[in-house]
Amino acid sequence: MFGNLETLPPDPILGVTAAFRRDPSPDKVDLGVGVYRDQFGNTPVLAAVREAERAVIAAQRTKVYVGPAGNIQFNERIVELALGSLAAELKDRTAAIQTVGGCGALRIGAELLHAAAPDSVVHVSDPTWANHEPLLGSSGITLRRYPYYDPQTRAVAFDRMLEHLERLPSGAVVLLHACCHNPSGADLSLEQWDAVADVLDGRGLVPFVDLAYQGFGDDMEADVAGLRVLAGRLPTLLLAISCSKNFGLYRERTGALAIIAEDAATARAIATHQARTGRRMYSMPPDHGAAIAAHVLGDAQLRQAWQDEVSAMVVRMKQMRALLAGALSARRPQVDFLWLERQRGMFSLLGLAPAAIAALCDEEHVYMPPDGRINLAGVSDQNVERVADSIVRVLGRG
Ligand code: LMR
Repeated sequence: MFGNLETLPPDPILGVTAAFRRDPSPDKVDLGVGVYRDQFGNTPVLAAVREAERAVIAAQRTKVYVGPAGNIQFNERIVELALGSLAAELKDRTAAIQTVGGCGALRIGAELLHAAAPDSVVHVSDPTWANHEPLLGSSGITLRRYPYYDPQTRAVAFDRMLEHLERLPSGAVVLLHACCHNPSGADLSLEQWDAVADVLDGRGLVPFVDLAYQGFGDDMEADVAGLRVLAGRLPTLLLAISCSKNFGLYRERTGALAIIAEDAATARAIATHQARTGRRMYSMPPDHGAAIAAHVLGDAQLRQAWQDEVSAMVVRMKQMRALLAGALSARRPQVDFLWLERQRGMFSLLGLAPAAIAALCDEEHVYMPPDGRINLAGVSDQNVERVADSIVRVLGRG
């Protein structure tokens, strides 16, 4: 049956973790997969999550199914975290379903788009997260790219992006990263979000917003200001939410898909399709992570404690950006590395040739995906000098 299947190459991101684990070097550094790490290189369970977990388990009396839409309280609270007061205003027009992580939300969204409008095209940023295209494309939907990142300025190529959007036909879908663009770390300013909203609205385009890093850029509110501009103005919006990073719930696969529709009747119809799509793929989402996040968000004290933990993570990521920029500048004063500090979130692109990136992994034992994306949370006071030495050693390669 399966004899004709060929062995696949490793996943561009998950393969880095495997290669890192195989490397016996004591000096190896993992700047690969996007998980937050503390100064000791650990990804601990957040204290607020631990406490909520204890409360959830103590209160649990049964393991019966929760239902196809998952934990309704979680859905409401996580949408409220993303949309703020708009969530109540848009409640009747919103259909939300708990999903298997942010990936599940993206995939169900793509399945629904494909079912509702088989000819629709989703435009993703160039570059985008390495799994976006496989994940969305497996639904059968057509994908294209729009210009996004300018490697010269290390910022958003905004004029080219807008020009591209202005040429799209009505009904085209545009996938946007709400904050902490993965892999570039280059985000839209609020003025730019405003201009994007004008174009989407004027041309009848549909935003599909991927919110995987709320709280990891600047703070819980600032990181969703652009999303809220879109949600407040556009008739239709898809929102994929992940709790992997900001709640540190990675392996619990916790997320949600919220779709804001033109009217309440359409939202009710969408909810039935969301449930059926999930049912046909995996039946129902897992309970544990969503129950924890719902508990944290529903308890004022715990919610504050959690926000403080996330704020501390952001401070560290910004410090590591500054530290690495400083260490590189000290070695190459003629080269500008300040873009590292201007960018946001966990990731930045080194912008090196493939040969240089290969040398970083194979010779320097500093691991990252083949596009040269580095996870700044993998940098620490202990390894920053060594990472900077390695980067400058390969700078001119290729
Ligand atoms: C990443 O971008 O590294 C994370 O989102 C983890 C993943 O699944 O790729």
